Amino acid sequence: MLRLMTVFALLFAMTAPASAQEATEDPRAATGGAQTLEDILRRQEGLVMDDSFRSDVTGNPENAAPITDQLGTLGGASDPDLWRAYRYEVADLTTQARGPAVTTMIQDRGMWWQAFREGPLVLMTAALLGGTLVLLTLFYLIRGRIRIHGEKTGRTITRFKAFERFGHWLLASSFILLGLTGLISLLGRKVLIPTFGHEAFSGLAIASKWIHNNVSWAFMLALVIVFVVWVVHNIPDRTDLRWLAKAGGLFGGDHPPAKKFNAGQKLIFWAVIVLGTSISASGISLLFPFEFNMFAHTFSVINGWGVPGWFGLPDLPYPLLPHEEMQFAQLWHAIVSLVLTAIIFAHIYLGSVGMEGAFDAMGKGEVEEQWAREHHSIWADEVLNAKPSKSEA
Ligand code: HEM
Repeated sequence: MLRLMTVFALLFAMTAPASAQEATEDPRAATGGAQTLEDILRRQEGLVMDDSFRSDVTGNPENAAPITDQLGTLGGASDPDLWRAYRYEVADLTTQARGPAVTTMIQDRGMWWQAFREGPLVLMTAALLGGTLVLLTLFYLIRGRIRIHGEKTGRTITRFKAFERFGHWLLASSFILLGLTGLISLLGRKVLIPTFGHEAFSGLAIASKWIHNNVSWAFMLALVIVFVVWVVHNIPDRTDLRWLAKAGGLFGGDHPPAKKFNAGQKLIFWAVIVLGTSISASGISLLFPFEFNMFAHTFSVINGWGVPGWFGLPDLPYPLLPHEEMQFAQLWHAIVSLVLTAIIFAHIYLGSVGMEGAFDAMGKGEVEEQWAREHHSIWADEVLNAKPSKSEA
């Protein structure tokens, strides 16, 4: 055995000088015919590369076209060139599959989106929602519950009819479900997987997605109902300026006169309608991928007005790849939802623990007459002058 190995070693030693000699003739012999470091450097410098050393041996000497035009083993395309072409969307791809995003194999501009979604967006969520909860807690500790100051009458007046309350609670319950399932999708990987593991999160993620996608229709329907029944009471007028000047008496002092809805409630109403509609639009765009693109056109209009230049910023990206449209839709959907959720935290606080007598308005539909006189004096006068209150009737 030892003798056999020695013979092989001798044979190898005898052939080695021949290979070395070949290497000086053909620089690619050392790489087994593959490109050399010099080839790579030439290409990186942008110099034309003679890749006949490959195309010759693959039986395709005519192949002088740019290497990105070629697929498979024919031709001189090196893998890095090909992948780079895919990455920067310069590869001339054809496919039998049909659809808006099929020719995008690698989407380079997905990297910043992923980094933003997993970093700053998570911080933004924590800061916005956590910050609002801290502020509301401080407000409660400093201001306490907003009480009914005068003597209660024991009489009630109707504030919201059954259909109005149905619209409100459909909106509220769907929004809360969408908020919870949305947060599970947004933060699940970062927060839930490390705590509960992949297995448990998988089931939760599937259920969340199903609930989120289907409950969205209830939210959109409720948005329409709430808009139709309350829009007439939410047109801004002069009483709102007086209400705002006194901050509604929220921080002390008398409550300024108000109609059915005060200026604070009108702001909440319009925030719900405008932001809710925007969330619905971006949600539909996500629900039917690549069908409803909202951003490329908007960006080109904004660029056309020169808006980014006003702030010394570069133009917004245009045109956009189909996937980029989805990425912007996802970010917009998440950020606008977070802003609305923070606003709704304040609304829920004032509609429940924050203000004595408020919840009855949406719970039973009836409010204490004294509450109505203190918080919505103009509206209370109108209703009381029109018909007697409940317990007197
Ligand atoms: C458990 C959660 C909620 C509670 C306890 C609650 C409570 C209330 C109450 C008591 C009112 C009537 C206020 C008044 O009589 O003047 C009201 C009105 C309203 N709610 Fe809610 N609500 C909740 C969730 C939501 C959600 C999630 C939304 C929207 C996404 C919403 C949107 C509205 C709007 C637009 C109004 C009319 C304007 C206003 O009063 O601000 N509510 N809510």
